[in-house]
Amino acid sequence: MRQTIITFLLFFCILSVFTVKAEDFLLSTPNTSLLLEATKGKPLHFQYYGSRIESPSEVYNSGTALWQLAYPAFGIETPQEAAVRVTHNDGNMSLVLLFDKLEKSKDAASETWKFILKDPVYPFQVNVCYKIYSDVDVIETWTEIFHREKKPVMLYHFPSASIPFRPGKQYLSHLHGAWANETQLYEEELLPGVKIIKNTDGVRNAQTDNPSLMLSVGQEPSENTGAVFGATLIWSGNYELKIDTDYYRRSRLFAGINPDASQYSLMPSEIFLTPPLAITYSVEGKGGVSRNFHRWARNHQLNHGTQLRDILLNSWEGVYLNITQDIMNRMMADIASLGGELFVMDDGWFGDKHARKTTASGLGDWMVDKKKLPQGIEALVETAKKNDIKFGIWIEPEMVNSNSELFEKHPKWVIGQENRTQRYGRGGHQMVLDLSNPEVQDFIFGIVDNLMTKYPGIAYIKWDSNMSMYNYGSYYLPKDKQAHLEIEYHRGFNKILERIRTKYPDLILQACGGGGGRVSYGTMQYMDEFWTSDNIDAWQRIFIQWGCSHFYPAIAMAAHVSATKNHGTGRVTPLKFRFDVAMSGRMGIELQPKEMSENELAFSKKAIAGYKKIRPVVQLGDQYRLISPYDRQQDFASLMYVSENKKEAVFFAYKLQHSRNQMIPRFRMAGLDASKKYRLEEINPEDKPFGLQGKTVTGKYLMEEGVDLSLTKEYASIVVRLIEQ
Ligand code: DGJ
Repeated sequence: MRQTIITFLLFFCILSVFTVKAEDFLLSTPNTSLLLEATKGKPLHFQYYGSRIESPSEVYNSGTALWQLAYPAFGIETPQEAAVRVTHNDGNMSLVLLFDKLEKSKDAASETWKFILKDPVYPFQVNVCYKIYSDVDVIETWTEIFHREKKPVMLYHFPSASIPFRPGKQYLSHLHGAWANETQLYEEELLPGVKIIKNTDGVRNAQTDNPSLMLSVGQEPSENTGAVFGATLIWSGNYELKIDTDYYRRSRLFAGINPDASQYSLMPSEIFLTPPLAITYSVEGKGGVSRNFHRWARNHQLNHGTQLRDILLNSWEGVYLNITQDIMNRMMADIASLGGELFVMDDGWFGDKHARKTTASGLGDWMVDKKKLPQGIEALVETAKKNDIKFGIWIEPEMVNSNSELFEKHPKWVIGQENRTQRYGRGGHQMVLDLSNPEVQDFIFGIVDNLMTKYPGIAYIKWDSNMSMYNYGSYYLPKDKQAHLEIEYHRGFNKILERIRTKYPDLILQACGGGGGRVSYGTMQYMDEFWTSDNIDAWQRIFIQWGCSHFYPAIAMAAHVSATKNHGTGRVTPLKFRFDVAMSGRMGIELQPKEMSENELAFSKKAIAGYKKIRPVVQLGDQYRLISPYDRQQDFASLMYVSENKKEAVFFAYKLQHSRNQMIPRFRMAGLDASKKYRLEEINPEDKPFGLQGKTVTGKYLMEEGVDLSLTKEYASIVVRLIEQ
């Protein structure tokens, strides 16, 4: 009898080994699905990512399953490009990752699925994680890497995600630029080979290449039609987005922290968390992908993402470092009288022994310069209150000047090397503080904490950073962990910002990276908005803002009206044009109002009142890009925003080049409700409003036929509000 039972059990065990079934895992957002497949003890497969499907059979029955590894490891499958590559302490360089189990957790807006993958030989584990949102079409994906080996394991490659694409032609859209000309749009076909988009700045990761991309699948990039994949990395430090395309035009994206000079010695049981990569997919072209990212950013990434932003005056291009109590008071009174809501005192207010007279001194000494501001910040906050506006202030907390009391006291708090001469940055005297050092983290948190404790009336902080990471070396990190510096810097940065956000949830924070160096979700997860570029020439801003809008929402995109002629480009443009460009983002002003004529002040007042009318739609609506400034054959640019319920919209058109007898295109709108009727109302009319003022047209006609506009002057522009009738 016993024998029979044992035989029976054995048979059952053997049977169950052979019948361990493959499982399909369908991860769905409202309009997209990602399909994975796994069998316990076998690799995890990535089968599909695209429009929402209700059953895996749609993928299998159509023969379109990709059968690609979800997170390829180096060592056994060596011919293919791997995601993760490590060296174990015994010198073995291989890793095999087999599916063990799935763990799920949930919060109000998302579910997180963790696929636990284990090496059958080494006690090494990678959890491939997906956060699936229920209200937006975005999935965040990252990995958790750890081991229980006896000694450290060296990580050489450790991307957050590896995404395979269906075979066929792919077109890449990405942003590249330079200081004062950030987020320029570049589009190209992906040919066999490797395309790398990366950053090595060390501190700000978006001034040159942005950590975001789109892939148009099977057809050239188009605004409102076609299948497009989008990805953006939530990391503030160096990153690498690598797309490997093979002979069959099968592309695979590897995205994560830039592993270059950042090999990581992982201690037993330490968890190495890679930053999330947010991915999305749309069949409504690039515009669909942008709208998905914008909605996700407003609902889940930005602070106060659904709260309207104040209209501000920033002092920088108005007075630069020449701050005085009187000048600040006057600027506050001026912006208040124009209808503005916030004043931001920029660089130049601090330093005692090493006062901030030029950019060569003062950084690190965050005490008020009593010579410039004898009554201190409290008096400024008071003046703001009297004018019924809010008060904001500039800091550059990660940096120090060699001419500072901070550096005299803590020379080893900077990033630097024992045996080499220090390489300085801006002003010839700037250095980066070593944020891997917890004492430095406390100091930086203290800068904000002290300001907020002493002057609780501060409503807004502009957090600037004007230097890259030179002199790669940490006085704090041990010799064998110097390669951790870049990663530890940004972990430190995150810790500081988390503390700030916890203690000061209402504070509005602007991420500034010497212009647009911090237009990236790594920084933006703690911030409310970013400084888009130090270039506020309205004409050039059309291009910068257009590129930026591919991944970042208007509510976070600080867009200021500059003086004319523009300080950077020398271009002279009408005030209307400058306002009309700034109005398509988070509008502000950056000039000295005292120098404006009566007419200009009157126009500005009306423009600010006009912006207040359209602000909810611009900042919270869906964006539709209509005519690209990059399409230089058209000489025009045009875009619009539509409220979620489609009852309201705002249309913008700009003339980029003026010539006689010029062809003006028909402006076809998008995103409206075809069955609704909209009344057209010009915002910011100059002398006489445009010919269609007050007219009512159906959404269908506006989208199919469009409107003709007589944009006949140089730098002509128009902003039209559409209101459902
Ligand atoms: C660089 C920023 O981008 C500017 O807006 C301004 O804040 C300066 N720094 C101040 O030094």
